[in-house]
Amino acid sequence: MSKRSRYVCQACGAVSGKWSGKCDDCGAWNTIVEEVVPEAAPKSTSAAQGRALKTEALSGAVTQLRRLEAGIREFDVVTGGGLVPGSATLVGGEPGIGKSTLLLQVAGALARKGLPTTYVTGEEAADQVRHRAQRLGLGDAPVRLVAATNVSDILATVESGQPPAMMVIDSIQTMFVDGLDSAPGSVAQVRGSAQALVAQAKRSGAAMVLLGHVTKEGVIAGPRVLEHMVDTVLTFEGERGHTFRILRATKNRFGPADEIGVFTMTAAGLREEPNPSALFLSDHAADTSGTAVFAGVEGTRPVLVEIQALVAPSPLATPRRAVVGWDSARLAMVLAVLEARCGVAMAGRDVYLNVTGGLRISEPGADLAAAAALVSSLTGEPVPAGTVFFGEIGLSGDVRNVAHAALRLKEAAKLGFKSAWVPQARGETDDAGLDVVAIRHLSDLVTRIGGLDADTPVPLRERKVRG
Ligand code: TYD
Ligand code: MG
Repeated sequence: MSKRSRYVCQACGAVSGKWSGKCDDCGAWNTIVEEVVPEAAPKSTSAAQGRALKTEALSGAVTQLRRLEAGIREFDVVTGGGLVPGSATLVGGEPGIGKSTLLLQVAGALARKGLPTTYVTGEEAADQVRHRAQRLGLGDAPVRLVAATNVSDILATVESGQPPAMMVIDSIQTMFVDGLDSAPGSVAQVRGSAQALVAQAKRSGAAMVLLGHVTKEGVIAGPRVLEHMVDTVLTFEGERGHTFRILRATKNRFGPADEIGVFTMTAAGLREEPNPSALFLSDHAADTSGTAVFAGVEGTRPVLVEIQALVAPSPLATPRRAVVGWDSARLAMVLAVLEARCGVAMAGRDVYLNVTGGLRISEPGADLAAAAALVSSLTGEPVPAGTVFFGEIGLSGDVRNVAHAALRLKEAAKLGFKSAWVPQARGETDDAGLDVVAIRHLSDLVTRIGGLDADTPVPLRERKVRG
């Protein structure tokens, strides 16, 4: 029998019959690699070969999910109350972001509660992990450490002793199964290893945590192909140079998705931030132009963050547009609406937008705060002190309501803010304890900041410079 080949994109896992330089599915370049198709004769399927199964009703007794609570609240919240026995969790993130540290802390906490935990390190030597554990104050935690990359060895190891209740694989990209030609880290190996490990978890009832690296471009053999194989996907993110780290659930069969946990990096490991809402506010002077505070919600938690904008005359034919922490397409949209619906033109000017603290905002509710920062920077007029903003901007310039308005206002009041500029001033927003200003159209915002008027060209006043 001749061996057949298939061509697999290492970025997205798409399979095709021929090689090409660019993946048709995800558009990535130079990611397609030849793999030998494992020989498995296709079997025909017919009712005669099967056996009839009994169907069940939706009503009836349900077994309550048991969960492994680490006691690290930010981690437990994100997983939906703790890791679930027999489930598989993928924790993805850029190299160096802190995945190994986080999971060693979780494994250590569970081990100290008397649960058998196994930490498989394929990336670092056992000695390095031991060294880290001591730095984290976990030297005495009874975690069973093993340095291995061959999945058969790992399965044999965990099946020979007391079965672990929780197991960490650091990282899935270093693991390999025998009988596959491709190298560790290739889609075939990542998929094959994960399949075997996830099956082991289901069999033994261990909570399996797979760590996986993603690059900025998402190119190298990706956790992307793993996402549908596991029950829960957590991403660990943060900006280099900032100490905040955010753990986010993007898929969770056992809990809410979109929940976040916030940590601060310290020399002694990750520290929980149970009240993250004020972390992303910089303590700026109230009279600086170009900043606005967004009252956001991440998952179920309110988070207040400062959005900074800088609008400056550009020497370039095509002015720069640079965004950190927000979507550049949304910035382009807000700029277009400001110009087309409110007569505020930023053409000929560079525009920079920055979300402070290294947080990444994906909510459309940040539109109004971004617009306020932009208009304020352009006019040099600060937004009123002690004010928060939220609202989604439509293409017609109308400002739409966003979910959890009451929660946002409550948090802003708690943190000492005095007023809120929001899409609606009635109903949900009534008893917030804040002075609520209704902004129904983007031009309302433009008129209120710096007294701009839709029909006159924008006066570029002298910017206020902080002393
Ligand atoms: P590490 O956990 O190894 O990241 P990853 O497994 O995602 O590649 O962390 C990277 C480096 O940062 C490592 O040298 C330890 C250091 N670090 C701290 O000193 N304190 C912390 O709280 C964290 C998370 C990391
Ligand atoms: Mg690591």
